[in-house]
Amino acid sequence: MRIDNTLSAVVTGGASGLGRATAEALAAAGAKVAIFDVNEEQGEAVAKAIGGMFCKVDITSEESVVAGFAKARAVHGQERVCVHCAMTHRKGKTVSRNRETGEFTRLSTEDYEYAAQGILVASYRVASLSALGMASLDPLEDGERGTIILTASVAAQDAQIGQVAYGSLKAGVNGLVLPMARDLMDLGIRVNAIMPGIFGTPLLGRLPDKVLDSLNASVPFPKRLGKPEEFASLAMELVRNSYFNGQAIRLDGAIRMAPR
Ligand SMILES: NC(=O)c1ccc[n+]([C@@H]2O[C@H](COP(=O)([O-])OP(=O)(O)OC[C@H]3O[C@@H](n4cnc5c(N)ncnc54)[C@H](O)[C@@H]3O)[C@@H](O)[C@H]2O)c1
Repeated sequence: MRIDNTLSAVVTGGASGLGRATAEALAAAGAKVAIFDVNEEQGEAVAKAIGGMFCKVDITSEESVVAGFAKARAVHGQERVCVHCAMTHRKGKTVSRNRETGEFTRLSTEDYEYAAQGILVASYRVASLSALGMASLDPLEDGERGTIILTASVAAQDAQIGQVAYGSLKAGVNGLVLPMARDLMDLGIRVNAIMPGIFGTPLLGRLPDKVLDSLNASVPFPKRLGKPEEFASLAMELVRNSYFNGQAIRLDGAIRMAPR
């Protein structure tokens, strides 16, 4: 699919990190970009900087996502590209011992459910609502109507201790890709996912130099964290290259996460 000024795109989580870099890359190539995010201040600022629009959207709310797509489509037209980066979750070990009291506790079912909403259910919601809109588009020359990119994680395949919810739900995101690509094949809509390794974004937080050095050293090559622009570059290729479909791709400098 060609990326130019006729293309409308939606990027969730576009106010920060990987989503922001992707929104910037799409806009730099000419696309009309709508950013969906809960962070209004940052979302507005990024949208302004790239000449796009901001929609305050909470991906855990059906009503909010439906309203976001309606707002974006009213201004930019139906999106042909949807990149879903936003997520929210809670973490904890299946069972852990409280250091002070010595008591055993577990990651509660409520916490797991919260993460399921913020990772897996939100991915289905955003992707399926986008596909529903794309279905009514006229196909491009090669029969393609649109393309959807989900964001999983290397934790989908090698989650660490304390990532039972995150890892299993990101594996679920990878699990959406093939059945969705097959469901949408007659409509000419492609679905892929990216599994980032460790990227330098606000998600990681401010790390002490020592921790950062050891994270950098844990990557086989290049010996550093991934750059958000490297994620964006792969997302752009997944849009441009119409033969990519039904695939979840690691982007990780060959890292394989150890248990801890
Ligand atoms: N950074 C990494 O190392 C890394 C590694 C693997 C996977 N990922 C995945 O990449 C994606 C993007 O992460 P990032 O590192 O860019 O994080 P980030 O924190 O920089 O950006 C996430 C954005 O999502 C928004 N957001 C959070 N909850 C939301 C909600 N309920 N509704 C709408 N927007 C919401 C935040 O406001 C923020 O702008 C996530 O799915 C994350 O799991 C990141």
